[in-house]
Amino acid sequence: MAMGFGSRYPHSVAFLLLAVSVLPAMVVSIGINYGQIANNLPLPENVVPLVRSIGATRVKLYDADPRVLKAFANTGVQFIVGLGNEYLAKMRVAKQAQDWVTTNVQAFLPATNITCIAIGNEVLTFNDTSLSGDLLPAMQSVHSALVTLGLDKQVTVTTAHSLAILETSYPPSAGAFRQDLADYLAQILDFHVKTGSPFLINAYPYFAYKSNPKQVPLDFVLFQPNKGVVDPGSNLRYDNMLFAQIDAVYSALASLGYKKLPVQISETGWPSKGDRDEAGATLENAKKYNGNLMRLIAQKNGTPMRPNSELNIYVFALFNENMKPGPTSERNFGLFKPDGTPAYQLGLAGIQTIGNTSTGLSSGSSRSSGSPPASSSTGYVSISYATERYSSVGLALLFPTALLLLPLLL
Ligand SMILES: *[C@@H]1O[C@H](CO)[C@@H](O)[C@H](O)[C@H]1NC(C)=O
Ligand SMILES: *[C@@H]1O[C@H](CO)[C@@H](O)[C@H](O)[C@H]1NC(C)=O
Ligand SMILES: *[C@@H]1O[C@H](CO)[C@@H](O)[C@H](O)[C@H]1NC(C)=O
Repeated sequence: MAMGFGSRYPHSVAFLLLAVSVLPAMVVSIGINYGQIANNLPLPENVVPLVRSIGATRVKLYDADPRVLKAFANTGVQFIVGLGNEYLAKMRVAKQAQDWVTTNVQAFLPATNITCIAIGNEVLTFNDTSLSGDLLPAMQSVHSALVTLGLDKQVTVTTAHSLAILETSYPPSAGAFRQDLADYLAQILDFHVKTGSPFLINAYPYFAYKSNPKQVPLDFVLFQPNKGVVDPGSNLRYDNMLFAQIDAVYSALASLGYKKLPVQISETGWPSKGDRDEAGATLENAKKYNGNLMRLIAQKNGTPMRPNSELNIYVFALFNENMKPGPTSERNFGLFKPDGTPAYQLGLAGIQTIGNTSTGLSSGSSRSSGSPPASSSTGYVSISYATERYSSVGLALLFPTALLLLPLLL
């Protein structure tokens, strides 16, 4: 996959000048989502220093773009590669899965440290029974291919879920999965245990705020100081929504008997710009959300429920992506603009973010065709739609009790 890129990529010397390859003073092990639904992003080799500049040691892709995997060879950066929703049915066939793994994973090992393959994105919340039915067989098939190639010890297989797989997410101690997804999930969770792979969830406090800005306190979603809320079921205090969301997932897993399954936050982030009706999508808020999040990660604390489990979080996203459909916010989740300058300063004391960026530069690459890259898998393009749908269906669905508790916060 991820083929069909144009072959002409104007060399950008300016970009190299800009790229400050200074390692962060405080090494924060964050992950970053490198989405490419855009026609103006820099060359992958020029992206390496950008990833370093924010202290990211892990990168998640929505495809297995060979240009990216080559550019990051021998950098020590760990990769989750993706396989789009449109490939699930095909992957059920053993030969197809093996071909895919050979071409997109094995070919880049060991120089590029691919540690995980994410099969599909937010598949179960599309409510498409045929697609949902293909998910586990595709995961099994890709895993079998890894076993055959002797790669299953170093590369795990997983899938990333939307938080909307939860029926109850508040209070966190009452977290529970949607009943109608129970069968799919039970089998997927067994697969994780058998193969030792992590459970991935995309969690966006932003969408909860956007759909209910009058009730959801901004400080609570932006990790700003606030009194927080106490979960009556556990007596644990929460002062930010992301941790409440993560603990709801832990509770949902625990209630099915999966107390030890490692959980990773495969996406979270905040847009720096939005349409007039998109509350909260501002530069200041994005800077607070992502800056505070990185500071939290640097402290290496876990959530109230799992204080000793280090957070494993992938920020969404590396770049603003100009070809993403949907409202303006969709195209403005990036920490960087396409020219490689920061979308805003994260303001991380002690962490070297990209410095002198006044230089600005012309786009490092342009695809000769106007068509979206193959990386725009249906799953990825539709992320926000799935999220939109669940969030507009209601905060009440996700945070029913939160609404009752909110008066305590205000
Ligand atoms: C790849 O990452 C894994 C997980 O952190 C690590 O254990 C392994 O040593 C890395 N491999 C290489 C070749 O850097
Ligand atoms: C999927 O189904 C659930 C439960 O029936 C519903 O609440 C949700 O809105 C649906 N989601 C989409 C994206 O259609
Ligand atoms: C950029 O570099 C100049 C001179 O080297 C320095 O004075 C300035 O503080 C730097 N700006 C930033 C944002 O790091």
